[in-house]
Amino acid sequence: MVKRHDTTTIEHVPPSVEPARRAVAALLVAFPKPIALGLPRLGEAVGRAWFSERGHVDPEISGEHLGFLRKGPQLCVIDERSRNGVFLDGVRLPPGEPVPLDDGSVIRLGRTLLVHRECPTKLEPASAVGKLVGPWGLSGVRRALGQLRASGARNVVVEGETGTGKELVAEAVAVALRRRERFGVVNVAAVARGVFEAQLFGWKRGAFSGSAQGGLGVLLRHDGGAVFLDEIGELPLDVQPKLLRALENREILAVGAETPSTIDIAIIAATNRDLDAMVATGTFRRDLLARFDRRIRIPALRDRAEDIYAILSALASARGAPLIPERVEIEAVERLLLHDWPANVRELDSLLTDLEPPGRLTLHAVEARLGRLEPTRSGAPLTREVLERALAAAGGNQVAAARALGVSRGRFLRALKVVKT
Ligand SMILES: Nc1ncnc2c1ncn2[C@@H]1O[C@H](COP(=O)(O)OP(=O)(O)OP(=O)(O)O)[C@@H](O)[C@H]1O
Ligand SMILES: [Mg+2]
Repeated sequence: MVKRHDTTTIEHVPPSVEPARRAVAALLVAFPKPIALGLPRLGEAVGRAWFSERGHVDPEISGEHLGFLRKGPQLCVIDERSRNGVFLDGVRLPPGEPVPLDDGSVIRLGRTLLVHRECPTKLEPASAVGKLVGPWGLSGVRRALGQLRASGARNVVVEGETGTGKELVAEAVAVALRRRERFGVVNVAAVARGVFEAQLFGWKRGAFSGSAQGGLGVLLRHDGGAVFLDEIGELPLDVQPKLLRALENREILAVGAETPSTIDIAIIAATNRDLDAMVATGTFRRDLLARFDRRIRIPALRDRAEDIYAILSALASARGAPLIPERVEIEAVERLLLHDWPANVRELDSLLTDLEPPGRLTLHAVEARLGRLEPTRSGAPLTREVLERALAAAGGNQVAAARALGVSRGRFLRALKVVKT
């Protein structure tokens, strides 16, 4: 499983000249309630008291449960003297053995799930933006939304994989630009090729056969507001220059018209396609992409596992069947945090369909949908036993062993060095 923090926002303006900040390791409580914790002092065994002093009470955590230490540059977690174990990415750690952590590693202890992150700044869980929930992983999106109005941006494109919440972000953009009152939506993928121009820019009487009357396009109808062009990546190449003109000069030319009209409109676009790759292959015009003042990228759900339970819980409440934390099996949530989520939040939401009885979440129900986690996948912690077994199976060939575990050779060697010292 790939676990990393992508840069969430790409801006055309050069990044600010703030000095680069060093990443700080943090433990983010992903279940039951979002809380940010720093690391305990390295080499020190901590437990129940350490957590409760920081606002996280879990009676199932032992007095001296786990610890953290560095082996060279590598941060490791160790099960100190826990009664009920420390689990890293779903696998129980051998007691007393330090095991390397990665950015995004999921740690379970008692009834607590932590995600380890290297963060540039100290994080605090953030509240929802409208319906958009994400206490940790949407900080880049939030920052971009916060800067929009002052930046004078007019054309914004929201990018992200399918199901990442682009529609919600597009609405938040319209709110940020104070243009939510007049908000038109066009699903570009659903518009028949021949009528796109007329739909967007309008048409004059007699512009085509049967057009006894002229018509306003969606842009003019929302003059003073915003138009959301969903699935902009599907925009036919021949229509792209016309949209470019609207973005550039706020001028639109109705089909059959000779003089353009000027409008005041914000264009908010969204796509799950890779626009840079489309520019490279000539299917999306570079100049059109360049007319977007801001690009807001929503990270994939698999890269913000720390948000999953908070989002799930909000989605369950929105369905009128809130999750009851005491009736949620922690192993079920852990399984969710370790899933790849190819369809992102949409897939998370559909998991709640027909959940019986409402309010309850069991590992059994989750595995029935997502399958069981294969423990030797790249998500599994690289304990001495896992490494040695893989090496033996590969006849001592480290490259082959790393490949079999689904990790890079570098990570494999780092882990091997850690468990051998
Ligand atoms: N962060 C979030 N918090 C709460 N709900 C979310 C969040 N992200 C997405 N959703 C919900 O997930 C579902 C999918 O989101 P949405 O339709 O916005 O995806 P999309 O990015 O437009 O996907 P596609 O590219 O397939 O159109 C919606 O029901 C949306 O409300
Ligand atoms: Mg969509």
